[in-house]
Amino acid sequence: MVATSPRLEHEVKDLALATLGRQRIEWAGREMPVLKQIRDRFAKEKPFAGIKISACCHVTTETAHLAIALKAGGADALLIASNPLSTQDDVAASLVVDYGIPVFAIKGEDDATYHRHVQIALDHRPNIIIDDGCDVVATLIQQRPHQIADLYGTTEETTTGIVRLQAMLKDGVLTFPAINVNDADTKHFFDNRYGTGQSTLDGIIRATNVLLAGKTVVVAGYGWCGKGTAMRARGLGANVIVTEIDPIKAIEAVMDGFRVLPMAEAAPLGDLFITVTGNKHVIRGEHFDVMKDGAMVCNSGHFDIEIDLKTLASKANEIKEVRPFTQEYKLNNGKSVVVLGEGRLVNLAAAEGHPSAVMDMSFANQAMGAEYLVKNKGKLQPGIHSIPAEVDKEIARLKLQAMGIVIDTLTDEQIEYINSWTSGT
Ligand SMILES: NC(=O)c1ccc[n+]([C@@H]2O[C@H](COP(=O)([O-])OP(=O)(O)OC[C@H]3O[C@@H](n4cnc5c(N)ncnc54)[C@H](O)[C@@H]3O)[C@@H](O)[C@H]2O)c1
Repeated sequence: MVATSPRLEHEVKDLALATLGRQRIEWAGREMPVLKQIRDRFAKEKPFAGIKISACCHVTTETAHLAIALKAGGADALLIASNPLSTQDDVAASLVVDYGIPVFAIKGEDDATYHRHVQIALDHRPNIIIDDGCDVVATLIQQRPHQIADLYGTTEETTTGIVRLQAMLKDGVLTFPAINVNDADTKHFFDNRYGTGQSTLDGIIRATNVLLAGKTVVVAGYGWCGKGTAMRARGLGANVIVTEIDPIKAIEAVMDGFRVLPMAEAAPLGDLFITVTGNKHVIRGEHFDVMKDGAMVCNSGHFDIEIDLKTLASKANEIKEVRPFTQEYKLNNGKSVVVLGEGRLVNLAAAEGHPSAVMDMSFANQAMGAEYLVKNKGKLQPGIHSIPAEVDKEIARLKLQAMGIVIDTLTDEQIEYINSWTSGT
């Protein structure tokens, strides 16, 4: 049911879920000390006073802390979901009820509702867009170019969004600054690798409760997310096969001890397939045809395009929900293929997304990236900008401090040595 309130515009599943949402938001906050420090500073300095921010993110307990930090900094912030299946309805309710932040997100919303929410994010007339997958920015450019004048810039969370921004730049339509949050070391080293690694396996286990020890798991893509996913699957005792299209990544996977095969050869061997490539139809008709009976397929890449579900459906005589987020396709060849999370990000559809400890750093980058856009308003060239290295290092320093870990510092002699070229053998 869609709830509306005269006091605050929002569209969430059920405001009565707010109490649970608030408890869960507070729990996540225990693992987010860096963002808390930034929020406390924002509350004093109000860097976003008078600034409208539209954020399109997975509506999770961690995102709640980002939204709260932006509001503490004076922003008029609004939140929509970056995926129809990733919203935590209790969190959405709590943000509206307890924190006064307008949220437009309902887990399981249909595509039309999803796109309507993107329009609402743009109706807000944002000065800053915080995007995850680039849907709001793409819609702005295609449908509301007159609003670009309002924009200080955008920050982009994920690899797929960056790929889209690069395509916009190539086509000459990216006429404002975009901050590449994904590129920060304190983002992709940890979020994409350890976050996606753990939460993808978490989603699969919650959806199916299968034992992974002894299973053959095929991981498609050995980028940051793939490395983490393969590492964690191996840690649970699976025999992991990696598929790649990049020869360097393929060597890396081989030297990390994984078997590397083309998907056509991996397809008959796998018990479980996980795509994390950001690419389209990585698992398709010819692969389904040769899979074992009962093989499971899922995706942790940003969009639901990595598994060709349309073709799978065309080969099926029955599609049955066998558990939540678990659908069995009974194929005409007598076998069945099980699809988790409708081919959408399984870690967010069937579990809770990344653990808070990694999102602490990712969203510290988002918060600082948004502040950077404000501080440098009118000074940044249109195009894609990295998070400044000093910001990245500062986030790492704060994280270490919060973890109670002290590291060495360079001695004067070491500083002199690494800055000179005269001393050799
Ligand atoms: N599930 C999550 O919560 C989460 C978190 C972060 C990123 N992502 C998404 O996951 C995807 C991967 O992100 P990443 O940071 O690992 O990107 P990446 O660029 O580091 O890695 C992607 C890898 O996939 C490989 N690849 C491309 N096409 C392929 C194909 N047809 N077969 C096999 N391999 C192929 C590429 O060579 C590359 O090595 C993106 O869509 C990203 O937005 C999801």
